[in-house]
Amino acid sequence: MSDTDPIAPDLYAGYRYLRDNAPVSQVETGGPWQVSRHADVHAVLRDHTTFSSVVSTQPPEERGQPSMLFSDPPVHHRLRKLVSTAFKPNHIERQSERIEARAQLLIQNLPRGEPVDLVAALAAPLPVMVIAEMLGVEDGDMGTFKQWSDAIFSNIGEILFGTPSAEAQKAAAEMDQYFLDQIDDIRARPQDHLLGRLIATKTEDGHLSNDELLSFCRLLLIAGNETTTGLITASARIFHELPDTLPPLNQDDDLIPAFIEEALRYYSPFSATVRRTTKEIELAGIMIPKGDLVLPLIASANRDEHVFDQPDSFQIDRNPNPHLALGFGIHFCLGAHLARLEGKIAVKQLAKRFSSIRLADEGKTDVGGLGGPKELMVILD
Ligand code: HEM
Repeated sequence: MSDTDPIAPDLYAGYRYLRDNAPVSQVETGGPWQVSRHADVHAVLRDHTTFSSVVSTQPPEERGQPSMLFSDPPVHHRLRKLVSTAFKPNHIERQSERIEARAQLLIQNLPRGEPVDLVAALAAPLPVMVIAEMLGVEDGDMGTFKQWSDAIFSNIGEILFGTPSAEAQKAAAEMDQYFLDQIDDIRARPQDHLLGRLIATKTEDGHLSNDELLSFCRLLLIAGNETTTGLITASARIFHELPDTLPPLNQDDDLIPAFIEEALRYYSPFSATVRRTTKEIELAGIMIPKGDLVLPLIASANRDEHVFDQPDSFQIDRNPNPHLALGFGIHFCLGAHLARLEGKIAVKQLAKRFSSIRLADEGKTDVGGLGGPKELMVILD
């Protein structure tokens, strides 16, 4: 633990304890195996044959259409290929000016010197607006998109392994109906955006089915929202903990990319993921049986002292920075360029406008969970 992470000392001390004493260990007898060292997390993410992403315990007929995040090759390859062009750097860069204009608009009237919720003001709406525009649904109600995404994301465990809450089921049904209506409209009047192009895509069996299209819409809306909110709020926490980091970012834009990489490492918004073993396998001297769940603790790997010099200190120009915050291997974050771009723009706009960002109430800040906090009260000056 260091003096630079006063907000969540226990969480990161807990990860360190695991790395030192039980790098591959079961949460409880018979439970999933948590993997905490960088080398082992990397090994799990790299080996998709042994560590499958088909983790659900639901019978295949009840799972619905697979999403790329929870599938293995060849299904994964086919699904990823259908959308990968839209997320390539040159496509994403074209959105830069529009994202910047949106961020400016969101923060231009924020009050100074009094508590304001940065999640509601910027960190939640910006990513929702960006993905909604890519999907061609920017005229929809952003607040509703966000509620759907929150309800489904916070129930992801139950959705995969048990019975989702009534709230999550209702959100999923409403979201599906909304997108089905959009899909019908677009079929009638073809449009040139990501969803329009997916609808027009020719496949071996003709066109993508409604269920396949819905699966893309759900994944893209959910995967990119909570995590990007997490990156923007992580940056604000860092400005609070290390006030000297903010002013230089206003002087020199070139510092921002390395700042974002370090923020991704330091407060990794996608703190852990999940796999299931397809065979018995030894990891760090421990035998994991076939069919068990494995939790690669990305946030712990990103604080591993065997890889990062002074891992608990935030180094604005850390280089190299081989963090795993965006994953590794075939499931490496599809939205990585977009996430980095949104993060850079949000930080640039905040640094341009404010010389100080403080948390209004340190005690109420949750950090290190999956995704971003629901609220982050800050005082801007
Ligand atoms: C700071 C923001 C983000 C973080 C930290 C993040 C992190 C991650 C991580 C760690 C994975 C790999 C999960 C695994 O291997 O199990 C992943 C996959 C994915 N991400 Fe992101 N993500 C972010 C933003 C986005 C955005 C903006 C989008 C799109 C709008 C997106 C779409 C996806 C998709 C579709 C996958 C699945 C890729 C596949 O299975 O091949 N992400 N993300």
